[in-house]
Amino acid sequence: MTSLWLDRKIDFPADEFAPGTTYDTVVAGAGLTGLVTALLLARSGQNVLVLEARHPAAVTTGNTTAKVTLLQDTVLSQLSRQYSQKVVNAYVEMNKEGQSWLLRYLDSNGLPYQRRTAYTYATTPEGAEKLRMEFAAATSAGLDVNYVRTAGLPFHITGAVSMDNQAQINPLDVIEALARDVKAHGGTIVGNARVTRAEGSGPVTVKTSLGEVRAKSLVLATGTPILDRGLYFAKLKPHRSYAAALELPGFLQAPEGMYLSVEQPTRSLRDYPVDGGGDGTGSGKPLLLVGGSGHPVGKAGSEQAHLDDLLGWAQSHFPGAKVTHTWSAQDYQAVNLMPFFGRLPRGRGDIYFATGYNKWGMTNAVGASLGIAADILDGQIPWADTLHRRVTAPPAAASAVGLNAGVGATLAKDWGKLLVKGTTADGAPEEGTGVVTRSGMRPVATSTVNGRTCRVSGKCTHLGGILHWNDAEKTWDCPLHGSRFTPEGENLEGPATMPLAKMPEPGKG
Ligand SMILES: Cc1cc2nc3c(=O)[nH]c(=O)nc-3n(C[C@H](O)[C@H](O)[C@H](O)COP(=O)(O)OP(=O)(O)OC[C@H]3O[C@@H](n4cnc5c(N)ncnc54)[C@H](O)[C@@H]3O)c2cc1C
Ligand code: FES
Repeated sequence: MTSLWLDRKIDFPADEFAPGTTYDTVVAGAGLTGLVTALLLARSGQNVLVLEARHPAAVTTGNTTAKVTLLQDTVLSQLSRQYSQKVVNAYVEMNKEGQSWLLRYLDSNGLPYQRRTAYTYATTPEGAEKLRMEFAAATSAGLDVNYVRTAGLPFHITGAVSMDNQAQINPLDVIEALARDVKAHGGTIVGNARVTRAEGSGPVTVKTSLGEVRAKSLVLATGTPILDRGLYFAKLKPHRSYAAALELPGFLQAPEGMYLSVEQPTRSLRDYPVDGGGDGTGSGKPLLLVGGSGHPVGKAGSEQAHLDDLLGWAQSHFPGAKVTHTWSAQDYQAVNLMPFFGRLPRGRGDIYFATGYNKWGMTNAVGASLGIAADILDGQIPWADTLHRRVTAPPAAASAVGLNAGVGATLAKDWGKLLVKGTTADGAPEEGTGVVTRSGMRPVATSTVNGRTCRVSGKCTHLGGILHWNDAEKTWDCPLHGSRFTPEGENLEGPATMPLAKMPEPGKG
């Protein structure tokens, strides 16, 4: 599946990898976090190298719904339950700075975006109650929100919190501009370069699929951190969800705001002017973008069924809509709900990371980048200091324990299923399907896609999770910490840095 954003000829500068070179900072990952961090450092005069495992925006940033908003579901009421008002205010400040920086950047580069009212809406009395709590938390944090009864949606709602003057973007416009800008400030961006390890300090030796380089600082802007120091992968819940772009029939218009339901399954809506123009200037009729129907990575019975559920919901409210694109993506929720950014524990002060944006990365990624750049350049940002200093609240620690117990149970259950099945895949699976079976003590993942049958190890190269076939994306997904692989075993995303081993044909090894 290809997102609306990635369905264009992408203009990225490609540089050569120069093994053995020493840089001020190496940034792993060219999504929004990596490129904003790289630009901030390059602008300050640092010699910066960005290493991207695939291509810029290949993962979550290229598959987002790209609302740039301070009204974020029920995040503030949830944070208020476990943090002091000072910490909640620091989170809001981080997001405000992230939003302002990004919109200023778009303005100064002449890039289009649209101002929209953001709504979080409810369709049940229980949902409306949650909204009241969010309204109270947002008001306490100084946000200019309203509680409204109608929101311009073509179905009944029980209430909505709204916030005017938020924004929506095309993330690829931003990523292309950032990549050009990093280079214009002397930075280097190398694609198809996967960081696999980091060793030593002052400088760090950064090992990659292309060779080694050295850096005074290494920033892991890889979605979830790829190094296991600090065990952050175990403090994050990877969550995948779906999106579609729809052409509406002549008699229907896309609703005027940006929307998110408070009830599950989540429903997200925004429009997109087809010519990419700003408010009211689009010559073509805007597309409607819908999103939602998410689930933990690698744990859906059928990913395709989740996508179909979203499309069915869209048809029921926008009959006759024609689907132009469907896609899916994942983001990471911290068990304590607060994004992590800053120095990686046991990174000897030289390794930085950012993660846990909980599907609000358009503002959090930029905020985290500002925080990391300040750390590296010895700057000071009051909200970043507050968020760095926060202590993990007892309820969060308890839920981290619960999450890891859940991970252990998933692993045991998945191995158990294989042992019970205990068969070997002699025959090729049907087109578009994959199956994990056992060959001796080895799990084998066999799939057939576009007529080609592939056999790879069914064990995730991160920490050995048993892989699950994703029938929407036709990929192998790990239910433990969210690593994903192609049918041929190549890494797509997640904390794993090594591909899946190829397995011999049955009877040949
Ligand atoms: C369906 C969906 C909808 C969303 N909608 C919104 C929204 O409306 N508003 C909002 O604010 N947020 C939204 N988000 C969240 C937001 O899109 C993300 O938080 C944000 O894009 C994350 O950016 P990133 O740069 O941290 O990660 P990514 O964009 O994932 O970038 C990480 C990069 O690192 C690279 N990489 C990984 N491993 C390595 C390695 N070992 N070596 C080198 N490179 C590596 C990857 O290839 C990738 O390019 C949404 C998320 C999802 C899943
Ligand atoms: S992602 Fe950790 S075991 Fe697969």
